[in-house]
Amino acid sequence: MKITIIGTGYVGLVTGACLAEFGHHVTCMDKDSGKINSLLAGKIPIYEPGLTELVRKNVEEGRLFFTTELEPCVSSASAVFLAVGTPTSRRGDGYADLTYIYAAVRDLAPHLSKYTVVIDKSTVPVGTARQVARLIREENPAADFDVVSNPEFLREGAALADFMRPDRIVIGTESVKAQSVMKEIYDPLYLISTPFVFTGLESAELIKYAANAFLSIKISFINEMANLCEEVGADVVDLAKAIGLDGRIGGKFLHPGPGFGGSCFPKDTLALLRIAQENGVSARSVAAAVEINAAQKAGMVKKIRDALGGDVSGKTIGVLGLTFKPETDDLRDAPALSILPPLHEKGARIQAHDPQGMEESKKMFPEFFYVQNVYEAAEGADALVLMTEWNQYRALDLDRLKSLMRNPLFIDLRNVYSPQRLQAAGFTYVGVGRKA
Ligand code: UGA
Repeated sequence: MKITIIGTGYVGLVTGACLAEFGHHVTCMDKDSGKINSLLAGKIPIYEPGLTELVRKNVEEGRLFFTTELEPCVSSASAVFLAVGTPTSRRGDGYADLTYIYAAVRDLAPHLSKYTVVIDKSTVPVGTARQVARLIREENPAADFDVVSNPEFLREGAALADFMRPDRIVIGTESVKAQSVMKEIYDPLYLISTPFVFTGLESAELIKYAANAFLSIKISFINEMANLCEEVGADVVDLAKAIGLDGRIGGKFLHPGPGFGGSCFPKDTLALLRIAQENGVSARSVAAAVEINAAQKAGMVKKIRDALGGDVSGKTIGVLGLTFKPETDDLRDAPALSILPPLHEKGARIQAHDPQGMEESKKMFPEFFYVQNVYEAAEGADALVLMTEWNQYRALDLDRLKSLMRNPLFIDLRNVYSPQRLQAAGFTYVGVGRKA
């Protein structure tokens, strides 16, 4: 099938490359000629494991194309995916900014020349798909089309696996014809028995927000339990394991830490709160999750300060990991952004390492020191903070670390190490929600 993807950001590129891998003829379109030129030269603007290779393979095999020209790829496509950005609006009111979506729809509408399914892949407020349909009708009354909401559930760092082996595919549409086009697009997933959920437009749109909000609530819940564990002398790792073994609860997304970040949970929880408010419905559990998350990040500043005796001035803090999670170069809403600046402002020297996030961090925080490896981060440090659980931080040479540090204090914000092991190696260990 001929498919066009509008927007070559994270979702657009992953979707394009994976659909090409399914055997479709896919054209990824973006207005940004710089982006398209670099994609044509084989350069992928984001770090996502496996993506560069998948793009290259599908380009070489003649299934994946890049262009800045909208008309030819829209008029020849049976399906057009909208995968442009929907950032939180600059007004700071929790609204998702739909400017890019609506601009893309106005641009593409005149070029619809045969029956086409227009698919919302971007995360958008409830009602957007209907608005997209209205806009297309306005711009091109003769257009033969259906609009489908097909939310994505890709995790950064695991996006290819999530696309190729998803837990489910959600397809929101009222048109049987559009449903059959969608079934054809995702045909290879039928073969691996992927559950398909067919719903109306509004349900599909809300499912995406509800999924992210629920996962955020789970994280905030376990972070609160972690704080309680610290006070009563319990261990949250044991607690999470034990409650997670109850099938009704499930063990995933019960890892306490410095709070959730990234481009999705913080944005989508705020957008859901806004949708609820507009509809006069309370969403207190989601509001609490957001509030707890902000407090959790602030709590990490206190944790580090307290571990250093209450005053960080003149202290050197080695930091392992800056991105909001491993296997990404994304720093958006990363806990590091809330935790490190207050420590620096109080006079700490920040000595940071990240396998992928340092370029971006240098632009945001030129005042930090950046080092090329873990052991340089430990040099002369009064504390080493494990902020992001990159695999390369999981098997550190503890003797070497200790010999490099001024003070062997290990603050493990992801509970990667066992307190006993660190203590046996001569460190003072501080984790999240567990006894030192
Ligand atoms: C999330 C969802 O997991 C995806 O299903 C969804 O498609 C995506 O948002 C999106 O809306 O596009 P992502 O933000 O890439 O994916 O990353 P997650 O792995 O979900 O992690 C989000 C944050 O929660 C990270 O900061 C992570 O460290 C934190 N987290 C996650 C915890 O603190 N504890 C956990 O147990 C799990």
